[in-house]
Amino acid sequence: MIRSAIAGIGSYVPPKVVTNDDLAQMMTTSDEWIQTRTGIRERRYADEGIKCSDLALEACRRALDDAQMTPADIDFLILATLSPDHHFPGTACYLQPKLGTGPIGCLDVRNQCTGFLYSLTVADALIRAGIYRNILIVGSEVHSSALDFSDRGRDVTVLFGDGAAAVVLSPSPSSDRGVLYTELHADGRFARALCMDIWDISKKPYLSEKTAASADIWPQMDGKTVFKHAVTRLCEVIQHTLDVNGLKGDDIKYVIPHQANMRINQMVAQRLGFPEEKFLHNMQRYGNTTAASIPLLLDETYRNGMLQAGDMLLLAAFGSGFTWGTAVVRW
Ligand code: ACO
Repeated sequence: MIRSAIAGIGSYVPPKVVTNDDLAQMMTTSDEWIQTRTGIRERRYADEGIKCSDLALEACRRALDDAQMTPADIDFLILATLSPDHHFPGTACYLQPKLGTGPIGCLDVRNQCTGFLYSLTVADALIRAGIYRNILIVGSEVHSSALDFSDRGRDVTVLFGDGAAAVVLSPSPSSDRGVLYTELHADGRFARALCMDIWDISKKPYLSEKTAASADIWPQMDGKTVFKHAVTRLCEVIQHTLDVNGLKGDDIKYVIPHQANMRINQMVAQRLGFPEEKFLHNMQRYGNTTAASIPLLLDETYRNGMLQAGDMLLLAAFGSGFTWGTAVVRW
């Protein structure tokens, strides 16, 4: 049986660091408020003019180097984002010529914080079906240009940061290594609990001076509802993933959770009886980078020398949509 495995991984964050104290200069907030409620200390912001596809390009180059491949080796490109370069066409189409792959298929995935897991599931299925060999998956976000820096938007703005991370997925050299399992869910009844309403295609024209001047142009979030559902759904999906795969918590070397909020992840670890050190974090330094967050953390973990061949990893995400899911990967 063909299995897919991560053949290379890389990430890129823009150099500009924005601390909680920096944000407190722009809106009524404080380092203490942000750290206590989220665990976030700082995040990165891309400079004006940098797009989602630009950050993605750097991450893809690093993943290709790690895989010892060139763009010519890639058969298919998947880009996950909630901050695309433009309304259309898809950002993967903007990335492809920058990368120089030739006319391979390009797919945008719009599943927010779970975007990487949706992309991994699609790529894994394409490789297992024998349709493609080497698929480049990248999660990339430039949030900083679409955040409300007035007090009205402070609950959302302090959470997010810019960044990108990519993996090359290829046929696994060994039948017991690679992507062992994925599970995806969504509950669209909660679509408006975290959304950006500006592109309302039912309005004619969809963008008018009135809508551009309204709060709809900024992300809107019901933070408490997001928090509550994130904890419940992550606990459910992680437990189900362990059960259907006959795994115990002890079999998992690390859980690589989406990096939204330290308190969400700590609560999930506690409820499932996982030692906290098994749940890895880097949101302190990057905030929530949405589709990039899981591969960004995975890349750091790999580069810090924390992964040995055969380690069992459980990836888990919850986000806007609501969408959520898991993947089990044997490194
Ligand atoms: N700085 C200071 N005060 C703030 C800020 C801020 N940045 N943002 C909101 N407040 C104020 C509010 O105005 C409110 O004031 P009021 O009581 O006078 O009305 C008060 O703080 C709310 O405080 P709390 O009730 O303590 O806030 P809460 O504990 O709900 O924390 C938070 C808010 C951090 C947003 C929380 O709800 C949360 O983390 N939710 C999850 C959101 C999330 O992770 N979203 C990411 C995307 S989805 C995902 O990735 C899972």
